[in-house]
Parts: sequence; C-alpha cells; structure tokens
Amino acid sequence: MRIGVLTGGGDCPGLDAVIRAIVRKGEGVHGHNIVGFRHGWRGVIECEMVDLTIASTRGILPRGGTILGTSRTNPYHTDDGVPRALDTLVRERIDALIVIGGEDTLGVAAKLGADGASVVGVPKTIDNDLSATDSTVGFDTAVQNATDAIDRLHTTAESHDRVMVVEVMGRHAGWIATHAGLAGGADLILIPEIPFDIDEVCESLRHRHTRGAESSIVVVAEGAQPVEGTLSVQSAGTDEFGHVRLGGVGNLVTSEIERRTGFETRVTILGHVLRGGTPTARDRVLATRFGIEAIDAAHERDFGTMVAQRGAEIVRVPIEDGVSELKTVDPELFEVARVFFG
Ligand code: F6P
Repeated sequence: MRIGVLTGGGDCPGLDAVIRAIVRKGEGVHGHNIVGFRHGWRGVIECEMVDLTIASTRGILPRGGTILGTSRTNPYHTDDGVPRALDTLVRERIDALIVIGGEDTLGVAAKLGADGASVVGVPKTIDNDLSATDSTVGFDTAVQNATDAIDRLHTTAESHDRVMVVEVMGRHAGWIATHAGLAGGADLILIPEIPFDIDEVCESLRHRHTRGAESSIVVVAEGAQPVEGTLSVQSAGTDEFGHVRLGGVGNLVTSEIERRTGFETRVTILGHVLRGGTPTARDRVLATRFGIEAIDAAHERDFGTMVAQRGAEIVRVPIEDGVSELKTVDPELFEVARVFFG
C-alpha cells in the first residue's frame, strides 16, 4: 500500500513520535510505502509531498513540532480545495491517508471520508478537547510546561507579595488550566466552561489575603469569559475555521484585580511556549501507541476510524465521535480544584 500522513492545525510535542511509529511499523513490518504531505491539508491540495522512510525519520522521537510542517488550511474554505485534495489522493495512488490533527483537521478528514477518501485519524491537541478519547497527543507536555512555569511564578509572587495571573491556552475547554492549576497549586482557576464574575474573583483573593496569604496564583484559560454584561474581552479576527483569535483575558483580569483590590498584580501569558519543546515521556508513549494503532488500521483498511485512548487501552472509534462535540472539563475534577480556591 501507499500510505499518506499529514499533521494539521496547531503543532504540539509528540507529532514526530506519531510519524516515526507509523513509518517504523508501516515500512518495517507491513512493507508499505509511506509519504508525508507538507503543511497539513495545504500539502494535499497542492500535492506537496516527501518520502518518509525509516532512515529519514530516525532520531525524531524526542523532537517537538512536526517534520512535515502544519497549517490551518481548510479545503472546504479554499477554492476547489476538496476536488483538488481528492484528485491528489487518486493521482498519487494514496491507498490510505493518516490524518494527525485536532477538531478542525479531523473534522475535514471525517467530511472527506464521507466524500470517498480512505482516512484514519490520530487525535492531537494540547487542548485535550476531543471527545471519544481520554487524552490527546501534546496535552501532557503542555500541562507539564504550564506547571513548571507556575512553580517558578510562586517564588517570585511570594518574594514580592503579588498576585500572579497566568494565562494558558485553552480556547473552548479549560483542561490545561485545570490540570496545571491543580498540579501547580493555583489559588483560583478560570475556565471557558464557567463564566467568571470579577467581583467573586476579587472577593476570593481578598478572603485569602485576610487569612494570612500574601501572594496568590490565578490561572486563566485564554478562552475564559466574564459573566455576560460585566467586562469585555478583546479578540483579533478569525482563522480559516472561523475561530476567533484569542488573547487578552489575562491582561483584563490582571488590571481589574489590581484596580479593585489594590493588590499588586502581574500577568504572564504562556501562549505558544506551552506547545514548544520536547514531549514528555507520557506523550511519547501515547504518540507511539497511537501511531502503531493508526498504521494497523490503515493496513487493515479500517477507514473512517480515529485511534483513541480509553483507560489503559488504545481503541478505534468513528472519527465523527471524536469531533462531533467538544470534550469539556469534567465538573468533578473542577470541584477538586475548587477546594483549594480562596
Ligand atoms: O492548537 C490549539 C491551540 O494551541 C489553542 O490552544 C490556541 O487557541 C490555538 O491553538 C492558537 O492557534 P495559533 O497557533 O494559530 O495562534
């Protein structure tokens, strides 16, 4: 078989580990020919390909980012994008396409699958917001990177008696904020799932400081929203999938806390730092297991499936199950974090 691979959407640590596993088993065990499409769906539309071999993918396991490059190109929003993508797959005799992506990239895979393409999905996103899988490639590393930063912010917060606001990624779901907040001992966590009341935020910090605390850590997911009609958060345009470019809630929360409480407050926006660098051991293992399951699914022509983690198992589910609705933070988990607020 001739099997294509692409990485689409935001990059994350662990993508290269998935590619390596696909190639190692695809070429080494199944004897298939593996090719990579450059820059996500753009490479399929524009037929930009590279050969992927065991030799060319040697040494990439610990790398961050993706050797294939990525983009947020959406064939359904590109002139003739869908027919050109399907044409590439036929012309290049691609028997199966393994799509490593998040909600948007896999959403396109599901649609193209319905239009006749032979696709297998691998879930990746630092946001961990794909359904039907317990975890996604990149999430563990992002949580670890955020936790490391929060640990460092504690010491400077304590030295200066400051409130430190830490903004982390998480557009629609507050998984990174919740996990890193729990792991880093946050005194307050604001997530997109629960609109925040700035009065309550300030009250909680005042309460904490009347009980002897002199510094606080507030973790804010970039998609956190104030209760309607209270404050307004700026945004800057939309991308090809119609997502608003976020940024600004950390600054807003910081200035409001300082203005309302008088506590000296600083903001740190971690942003893309969370997505950079080497994957954690857990992400490398998950990525490798996903890659092996994906190439096996392609080999067995089990198309329209997405590999997924369920407990300790790696399973296959319909791609639609992964992308039809977002996986938001488990309220029970958030209740655990809430015990430490204020
Ligand atoms: O890939 C997910 C993500 O990291 C989100 O957490 C974030 O909102 C978005 O990507 C940022 O996108 P970009 O890299 O295009 O700025």
